[in-house]
Amino acid sequence: MFAIDPTITYESRAAMYTDLQRQLQSLLHGERDFIANTANCAALIYQMVPDLNWAGFYFLRELEGGKQELVLGPFQGKPACVRIPVAPVARGVCGAATATRITQRIENVHDFPGHIACDGASLSELVVPLIVDGRVIGVLDLDSPKLARFDAEDQAGFEAMAAILLSASDA
Ligand code: SME
Repeated sequence: MFAIDPTITYESRAAMYTDLQRQLQSLLHGERDFIANTANCAALIYQMVPDLNWAGFYFLRELEGGKQELVLGPFQGKPACVRIPVAPVARGVCGAATATRITQRIENVHDFPGHIACDGASLSELVVPLIVDGRVIGVLDLDSPKLARFDAEDQAGFEAMAAILLSASDA
């Protein structure tokens, strides 16, 4: 049985992410359902990674007239805004990650034009686009109540988590 232990401490951030990636692989083993796997991925991250107040997913939806929106998926944390516009005009950190296909690492969300405040406690944010066959299908969104919570090591760690999730799932 897979066990999550939030009391574990690590010698370094890199060691934490190596263990987190190993745990994610083991958690997703034998299951390819994307909703189930994103739900467990969000729960694992939220339980194991310190200083987060929100961890979860938005999925890209194509609407009539070429409109695109991100729609809320599995997450842990306070209830969040359900829809985030992407096209014709991208909004928020999540919209920017989707439109640019580039991970957004924001030290202070109040300095980000158009930031969408779902939880007033959020001060920094990391959003990783989920890319399948060259198309963005959604984002992994992480919020922290600490300023500049995410550094380049965190970014690399969460990008690797997103890659594991996508290769283990039928997205
Ligand atoms: N802050 C995000 C919106 C999603 S919530 O953080 C969960 C943004 O600006 O896109």
